[in-house]
Amino acid sequence: MQLVTTIAEARAALHTARAQSSGSLGLVPTMGALHAGHLSLARRARVECSIVAASLFVNPLQFAPGEDFDRYPRQLDADRTLFAEAGVDLLFAPAAAEMTPPGATTFVDAGELGSRLDGAARPGHFRGVATVVSKLFHIIQPGRAYFGQKDAVQIAVLRRLVSDLNFPVELVACPIVRDPDGLALSSRNAYLSAAERTHALALSRALTTMQTRLAAGETRAAALVAAGRAVVHAQPGIALEYLEAVDPASLLPVETVTPGTLVAIAARVGHTRLIDNFVA
Ligand code: PAF
Repeated sequence: MQLVTTIAEARAALHTARAQSSGSLGLVPTMGALHAGHLSLARRARVECSIVAASLFVNPLQFAPGEDFDRYPRQLDADRTLFAEAGVDLLFAPAAAEMTPPGATTFVDAGELGSRLDGAARPGHFRGVATVVSKLFHIIQPGRAYFGQKDAVQIAVLRRLVSDLNFPVELVACPIVRDPDGLALSSRNAYLSAAERTHALALSRALTTMQTRLAAGETRAAALVAAGRAVVHAQPGIALEYLEAVDPASLLPVETVTPGTLVAIAARVGHTRLIDNFVA
């Protein structure tokens, strides 16, 4: 695996790779601190594409002041080994100044979609995501880009971005990977104390409770959401931010849960914000 840190090096390396292979190029954008969820994206890209590029960049634009940008886990050496083992050909790991040049004034606004659910709790977050992902698409020019379904709101925003700005990229949403106890994998799980980790299980427990009710025939969103909220409220040490049943593209609430409805949850456990979801 080749490691490049500048945009010029990335373009040159990809130019060479494309000259040697006529197949598709897959991109796995990440902020590092890799877990099995990220590696599932890289492995899927390896199976589906002839050239696999990954990016590792903790994007300052998607963190608001006071969020966890400074303490976000950084482990380039370990991530490098993991990406190589997953079959990545090229790792683009730029420094902040390379990706966000001082004085930049152009950004990609995710619009109203970017202010729903996670966007309501994290103003400006999806503007930062949309901007950096647009830049990555321009630099790497992938045919396919792989993202985790855990960030379902991010997927909705990026699908809109690809469509609105005519990027010739197919977005591939890969299934959530969970620990055996049900907790969805996240780089932020590293922040949780042992007690907080137990409290955090209420997120997946709320979702499975709703899935059980749904399987038993309850399709009224309000009833399902009430059942899920009751699970979280019964658990000390966790503060629910939202639990909604929404259309997966518009992210607007639905009255009836039908196949394809996105049921998404966000909660705070101590200082850590966690998200999870399922698609009905
Ligand atoms: O999902 C992430 O890790 C980030 O939001 C992404 C897509 C790499 C953009 O910084």
